[in-house]
Amino acid sequence: MSLRYPLLFCLAAVSAFAMSPPHMWNKLILTHHWPNTFCSVEACHHPNITYWTLHGLWPNKGILCNASWHFNTSEIQDLLPDMDKSWPDLLKPASSGFWKYEWSKHGTCAAKAPALNSQHKYFSKALELYHKVDLNSILRKFDIIPSEKYYKFSQLEAVIENFYGVTPKIQCVHPSKNGDVQVLAQIEICFSPDFSLLDCEKEISSSPYSVCDEDAPVYYPPL
Ligand SMILES: *[C@@H]1O[C@H](CO)[C@@H](O)[C@H](O)[C@H]1NC(C)=O
Ligand SMILES: *[C@@H]1O[C@H](CO)[C@@H](O)[C@H](O)[C@H]1NC(C)=O
Ligand SMILES: *[C@@H]1O[C@H](CO)[C@@H](O)[C@H](O)[C@H]1NC(C)=O
Repeated sequence: MSLRYPLLFCLAAVSAFAMSPPHMWNKLILTHHWPNTFCSVEACHHPNITYWTLHGLWPNKGILCNASWHFNTSEIQDLLPDMDKSWPDLLKPASSGFWKYEWSKHGTCAAKAPALNSQHKYFSKALELYHKVDLNSILRKFDIIPSEKYYKFSQLEAVIENFYGVTPKIQCVHPSKNGDVQVLAQIEICFSPDFSLLDCEKEISSSPYSVCDEDAPVYYPPL
């Protein structure tokens, strides 16, 4: 099954964009991270998680848009079982610190759009998109599984691009200056303001990761 959307939806996205004020974001970036790679870079306990988890849902413009809009777990009470599983805090298991951080940094900016203007709307939409994209199943389906053997970057990118019909942004950790192997870290899938798939831009960088090198082999580390 392809997630390509009919032309009608693309036109709707274009007109919604045309009506938005110029300072408004016009793209949402659904960011997944691979826990094993994250924990090789950050000081977290080695997680027992063997699937891609959510890092965040980021508008392409704006950070920290409303300091007085505090994160409140009670507002997303019904989402917590899914949040714990799909969007875990890898640094502090069972804490809501990561969600609080993502809400203040990105959620308060996403909330400029009526479709995302509450904590419940923001977090539930992120979970909905994460499940709809279902990256874990798609990678497995096309035999991209954590392995001691290396992948070609072009193979990995092609699987994602062919399935979703849009360009993802795939980031790696480059372990050493001379190391010729890069470690798969983060996969971003982008959406329009009305939540249809869009190409991501590869050049925007978010350390400590950078866009994977086209030519170097990719290590997708198993637990
Ligand atoms: C890790 O997950 C496996 C499979 O779900 C489970 O059998 C094991 O007990 C877990 N280990 C820890 C430390 O949670
Ligand atoms: C910031 O958040 C507060 C609390 O939700 C809200 O009352 C206020 O209208 C928001 N400000 C802006 C500029 O959106
Ligand atoms: C958190 O949200 C709940 C439910 O909407 C509300 O009753 C409570 O007052 C909020 N707490 C704070 C500190 O804003």
